[in-house]
Amino acid sequence: MMGSTSVLSSVARRLQGKVALITGGASGIGECTAKLFAQHGARVVVVDIQDDKGHSLCADLGPAVASYVHCDVTNEADVKHAVDTAVSLHGKLDIMFNNAGVIDDLSSGFLNGEKSAFEKVVAINVLGAYLGTKHAARVMAPARAGSIVTTASAASVMGGLVSPAYTCSKHAVVGLMRCAAAELGPFRVRANCVSPHAVATPMARKALGITDDEELERMVEATANLKGTRLKAQDLAEAVLYLGSDESSYVSGHNLLVDGGFTVTKRW
Ligand SMILES: NC(=O)c1ccc[n+]([C@@H]2O[C@H](COP(=O)([O-])OP(=O)(O)OC[C@H]3O[C@@H](n4cnc5c(N)ncnc54)[C@H](O)[C@@H]3O)[C@@H](O)[C@H]2O)c1
Repeated sequence: MMGSTSVLSSVARRLQGKVALITGGASGIGECTAKLFAQHGARVVVVDIQDDKGHSLCADLGPAVASYVHCDVTNEADVKHAVDTAVSLHGKLDIMFNNAGVIDDLSSGFLNGEKSAFEKVVAINVLGAYLGTKHAARVMAPARAGSIVTTASAASVMGGLVSPAYTCSKHAVVGLMRCAAAELGPFRVRANCVSPHAVATPMARKALGITDDEELERMVEATANLKGTRLKAQDLAEAVLYLGSDESSYVSGHNLLVDGGFTVTKRW
């Protein structure tokens, strides 16, 4: 009886003993992932530029489990400091979740787009993921262990869904991830992406101009291929849990689409 209980608890806590850093961890998909990681036994370093939200999340999770570090992912000194903080607090970094991101005006295109908006999206989404991967690799490669997960998007495999800036930034992070998988595989460090269809978070609410999650989810469901179920931030967190855990120990270089088949049909 005792034996089966301990087997169950070790299966249930899929990140026991792991240390994770989550960028953009104060909100949306990152926040949901921080909570799920904590439930599964990980110690989590949440980094963001929304300091109040980040501190409040970490206070809820408890000081032994979660720490907040202010970090603008476009600032290399900030990213280096965040990674070094994770290592100095916990002795290692097992999982890097490059998740911070922004989107510009959905109607922005080549005919009406602004260079400054393009540069902002590319800086946060692409440079941020590059710096996160670079500094995670710096500590993971010598340890011969680690999993780097980057949030891409359904827009990483399709054009015309959203703006050119966002679309190319999410195509680019898949390229970065593939480079990381190629370079870091010999060091036993894996790299993968998760790619959501639209999911109700502050970013999606603002971009779509919809404040009611029920309405947003209904709108997404209407365009989705998979019917009878709705995409939630929790679905992304579960995908990142899989890619961060040892259950995916031979999975590297993969872009895991969490889109209910949206990008492989033309039904919508
Ligand atoms: N919500 C969606 O529909 C959707 C779909 C596809 C992909 N994504 C991607 O998911 C990721 C998470 O987005 P979300 O939907 O949870 O949105 P969100 O706005 O809730 O979370 C994004 C977080 O990133 C943080 N951030 C922004 N700029 C930053 C910077 N310079 N440095 C550090 N942190 C910064 C924000 O403060 C915020 O907490 C993003 O990469 C986004 O592109 C979201």
